[in-house]
Amino acid sequence: MLKLKIVYLILCPFLLLTACSINQQVTPRASKSLTTTIDQRYRHATTQYKLMMDELPEGKLPKTFVKAQNYLETSGPDWWTSGYYPGTLLRLYEQTGDSLLLKEAKRTLALLAKQQNNAKSPDLGFIIYNSFGRAMQTIPEIDYHKVLLGSAKTMAKRYDPKVKAIRSWDTRQNDKEFIVVIDHLMNLELLFWAFRATNDSSYYKMANNHAETVLKNHFRSDYSTYQIVHLDTKTGKLKQRRNAQGYGDESTWSRGEAWALYGYTMLYRETADAQYLEQAKHIADFILDHPNLPKDMIPYWDFNTPEIPNTYRDASAGAISAAALLELCGYLDEAMAKKYFKAGETMIETLASPEYTALLGTNGGFILMHGAGYIPIMAEVDVPLPYADYYYLEALNRYKAIIAKN
Ligand code: GLY
Repeated sequence: MLKLKIVYLILCPFLLLTACSINQQVTPRASKSLTTTIDQRYRHATTQYKLMMDELPEGKLPKTFVKAQNYLETSGPDWWTSGYYPGTLLRLYEQTGDSLLLKEAKRTLALLAKQQNNAKSPDLGFIIYNSFGRAMQTIPEIDYHKVLLGSAKTMAKRYDPKVKAIRSWDTRQNDKEFIVVIDHLMNLELLFWAFRATNDSSYYKMANNHAETVLKNHFRSDYSTYQIVHLDTKTGKLKQRRNAQGYGDESTWSRGEAWALYGYTMLYRETADAQYLEQAKHIADFILDHPNLPKDMIPYWDFNTPEIPNTYRDASAGAISAAALLELCGYLDEAMAKKYFKAGETMIETLASPEYTALLGTNGGFILMHGAGYIPIMAEVDVPLPYADYYYLEALNRYKAIIAKN
């Protein structure tokens, strides 16, 4: 056991060097206001999360904050967002070294560990990779390795070799229809981790096949996405394409587009396959060149809702896109990198402004305001969201790393 742990601690820095390393061709001229206040933002976030930790009931994870009732809404460990709380604490611990954050992260990781056997969950990548995957990078432990591997094995049970995809949502017609949602591209990072940890190429193949199935079926010709695709379980053929969290079947749900951008950027990192880099660039251009993207670059919750500009923004779509763009810019030549770097920078500048960053002591301890969970059913409307905070901090970290190297 101890031996394994030591091997891990030695290998960890190398395991982090994945298929593509950021080529550092970006020569950014950084925003002065952002660079001079970046550490202050980590301090603000730390104070907020310490507030939240005091409010969190035993056995629960933060989901959102209901301002009108001054109520921190929570979830159990099986909800798709449960991993973001320990993940965010670990991100803050990495920056601050604050041991209270680490203690709370470890306490909540223990709550999530059993999810590794939850074969009914289509969200194990979300839950486990953003928590235990983060922990393996920050404070590697053989027990975390076991949870990650157990989760990858469980998730692999949802893979169908005929359809060449991992099943998203179950229905009563599982034998006839196979649903894949764009959100679940994010699960693939867990499978790539398992491939690197075990050298078992079946994990790599499952992830790569799923990515190709999504590439073939989820995109319109302008690189906008449908959230939901129904495939034939027996043949894998496309049956139906639609949206649930977006405005309508032919609109583009902003967070779905952000998941796609993050997903194909990550896929290029993991595989070095040029088709994924091309896809990520096309998705980035769809977002950044869209006439309905506001100047401050935080998208409305759907790119095509007719209520624009009198409707909700989605801070989570902005944060996910910013994190993705600040990775993507590292894989491109200088001219292209500049466009994506500047857009990522503008997004985090907007999120870091009082327009989106909550006043200390408010917002249930979340960092960001104005997320959009599920607008068509009026659930989580204009609220803080744990994944908005997580990807905002990831974007800040990536920004800080780029600036430090240039
Ligand atoms: N289902 C994941 C999301 O709401 O983005």
